[in-house]
Amino acid sequence: MTATILDGKAIAASLRAEIATHVAARAAAPGLATVLVGDDPASAVYVRNKHKACAEVGMHSIGIQLPAATSQAELLGVVAELNARADVHGILVQLPLPAHIDALAVISAIDVHKDVDCLHPENVGLLAQKGREPRFAPCTPAGVMHILQVANIPLAGANAVVLGRSNIVGMPLSLLLVRADATVTIAHSRTGDLPAVCRAADVLVAAVGVPEMVRADWVKPGATVIDVGINRIADPAAKSGSRLVGDVAYAEVAGRAGAITPVPGGVGPMTIAMLLSNTLRAAEAEIKEPR
Ligand code: GUN
Repeated sequence: MTATILDGKAIAASLRAEIATHVAARAAAPGLATVLVGDDPASAVYVRNKHKACAEVGMHSIGIQLPAATSQAELLGVVAELNARADVHGILVQLPLPAHIDALAVISAIDVHKDVDCLHPENVGLLAQKGREPRFAPCTPAGVMHILQVANIPLAGANAVVLGRSNIVGMPLSLLLVRADATVTIAHSRTGDLPAVCRAADVLVAAVGVPEMVRADWVKPGATVIDVGINRIADPAAKSGSRLVGDVAYAEVAGRAGAITPVPGGVGPMTIAMLLSNTLRAAEAEIKEPR
């Protein structure tokens, strides 16, 4: 079997185009504020890409960059200012924060209506409770769900296995899969016989950050495999000396899965598209329910 390639790059582009038409129809552009503390180069690249994406769909964005030595009180002051700004609909505090700052305290200070990352405990709580309507879905998990939906992958009654239990991906994605009526197993570093657990999956999502961990014999023939990992590994044959791989051994798994996301060009582009979608949603909610 050769897997269908789930083209996240194309799906994200069509979502961005749709968002741009909604933005253009609005009197005022939705606004996203990002807060970056310190000078981690990878975080700087992520934040820059978010601003570029905002500009491309006609949203305005504000980038606040603070030194690594910023105190928690100063950062909380910045969040309070952004909460109060009428032209800011979404606030994203880039993680990780420096060790001297309590990330939970900062995330908990973001206005729940502007929490486009969906990391505020109240928003995570709404996501976790049956019968509640969450304000947002967190960006990477929402991107995974969007790919599954566009590809018509059946989820009701399906066995979904999520490898990884992070606050940003594994845990909230598991909640979204449960909301879609999948039977969900969350597997992690302490799970016994990971290959056997993964082989039971109709939908297998890898979000562990271990290069090419999921091998062909971990995958049920015909299963849908979603690779959230983005790992840079040494490759002497590459011009740059390195290349990006996911958490899935793509070449061998593509010969066994029914559908698979590539790395790069799979889940990665979806994350920013969903951030834009959440920012638009925040701006639209403000009009529907004046606060
Ligand atoms: N750092 C890595 N991924 C994310 C994310 O989705 N949101 C935030 N705020 N920081 C991150």
